[in-house]
Order: sequence, then C-alpha cells, then structure tokens
Amino acid sequence: MTWTRKHLLGLEGLAAEEITELLDAAERLHPDKGPLAERPLAGWTLVNLFFEPSTRTALSFEKAAKRLGMDVVSFSASSSSLKKGETLLDTAKNIEAMGADAFVIRHSAAGAPHLLARHTGCAVLNAGDGCHEHPTQGLLDIYTIRERKGRVEGLTVAIVGDIAHSRVARSDLWGLKALGAKVVLAGPPDLVPPEFAEFGAERRDSIDEALADCDVVNMLRIQRERLGRAHPPSPREYNDRWGLTAERLRRAGPELLVLHPGPMNRGVEIDSEVADGSQSAILRQVTNGVAVRTAALALLMAAHGKGAA
Ligand code: CP
Repeated sequence: MTWTRKHLLGLEGLAAEEITELLDAAERLHPDKGPLAERPLAGWTLVNLFFEPSTRTALSFEKAAKRLGMDVVSFSASSSSLKKGETLLDTAKNIEAMGADAFVIRHSAAGAPHLLARHTGCAVLNAGDGCHEHPTQGLLDIYTIRERKGRVEGLTVAIVGDIAHSRVARSDLWGLKALGAKVVLAGPPDLVPPEFAEFGAERRDSIDEALADCDVVNMLRIQRERLGRAHPPSPREYNDRWGLTAERLRRAGPELLVLHPGPMNRGVEIDSEVADGSQSAILRQVTNGVAVRTAALALLMAAHGKGAA
C-alpha cells in the first residue's frame, strides 16, 4: 500500500496512482462480494456531520463504516448547541474529545472540511463543501465508468447542467483529467463558468453537441436552492433545451453510458425512460458509492495507524 493521505478533502491534486489505488481497494471491498470477513476498524468511531440534506452520501458512509466494524454516530445540527452559538470547530473538538476518530462532513461553506482537518486529529472526509468538491461522488462516478467501459483514459465524458453550483462537476473534472479522460461541459450559459476552460474542460453550446462524440454523460440537476435568481428556467423550458430525453439518447447511440449523481428531477434534466433505461448506471453508482466509501475509510484510517487497508 502506498496511500499516505490522512484526509480526503478533494480530488484536485490527487495523482492518478492515488485515485487508482482507491478504486482498486473499492473493487476488493465491494459489497457485491458480500460482507467483509474481518472488521478491521472495530472499536473506532465515525461521526457523520451533515449540515445539508443527504440520502445517498450519509447512508452509504454509514453502511461503509459499519461494514468495516466502526461505531457510527450521526450528529443533528438542528438540535445541537450550534443553535446556542457554538462554532463548528468547537463542536468538532468536543465531539473528538468524546472519542471520534473520523469525521464525514457536508457543509454549505467551501473549506469547512479543511478547517476540521487542520484543527482536529481525526480523519476528515469531505461529503460536499458548498460548490467546491464532493470527492467520494467523483470517485464513485469514475469507478462506475471504469467498471462499465473497462478504462477511463482516452474516454470523453460530458457533464451537462448546472456546472456553476456543482461540487460533483469539480471533483469529476479533477479525477477524470488525472486519469487521462477528456471532459466536455454544457449547460445554460450563466451556469457554465468560464474558469472551467482553465481547468482543461471544453465547453459545448448545446447538449446535442456535447453528446455527439462522448462515451459517458453525467447529468446534473439545477440547484435551485443555490441559484438565488429571479427567473430560473421553468422545468419544461429546461427539459426542452438541456434535458436528456429518450430522443436525444437515441441520437447519441447505444454505447453512451448515462450517469446522474442524484437526487434526480425526473422530466427536467433527465426523462424517466432514460433514467430507468438500459444505458443508465444511476443505481449502480449508488452501490459503487458504498464500495468507494468503504475503501476511503479503510485507507485513511490506516494512514492514521488505525486498522489495516
Ligand atoms: N449525490 C449525492 O450527494 O446525493 P445525496 O445528496 O443524497 O447525498
């Protein structure tokens, strides 16, 4: 094992070898292979700190940690002493003092996981920080691409939708570029920030142009909760212009792999016929999320001298 990182804060800056080591560990620890024979992290404690809603990430981290034998504690921000003015860092230090060994944190502020990584002794896993990164989502997307396509290098992956507010787009981009894939972006003009070109992504002006030559498409929802705009497009307008419809998928061809990080807005960015169709790996992404999060916990805890990956 060569993994040495104590935290998983983002995919930016990870080397191809590190990402590959994590994906290979996920394959070894995949829930398809049944329960793990051993509980390498028995006795260590994971605390889930979710300050924004989550279904997939929170539950799959809990499942992953329990597969490894960890005790899992879920923190409820709305009923905590944060309501009395306690800071995030004081909250985290108090939880650490109770015996936490790892934090999984989702927060609306970009950089919140980095703060805990700097100022606590726990392993910190970023479960989504603002519009910045969502590294385990990026890893499970890449795992699913590798599983279905047999490789990542040389593929073209389109990411379509609200790129501006998407931490998934950023993590996908860093991870895919590190592994040698080409990334193209498409979405409403004000939701595709120009700085993505500097990160090495190519912009396309329509979804059809994005789909024309790609192997994989990752459809993103419009994050209406972060928009703050007076007139976001109506669901119908959005579907007409940017939605992955059955007709668009047919034109793109039978080899196009369809991903979506969830939660989906059916009939808006993706039609039900596509989401539930044979080219969709959307639920497989969720299963692979358990594998990737199991691997991430095992590797990070081993880097802290706890358990063996
Ligand atoms: N993809 C994702 O992060 O889903 P949740 O918000 O349900 O965790």
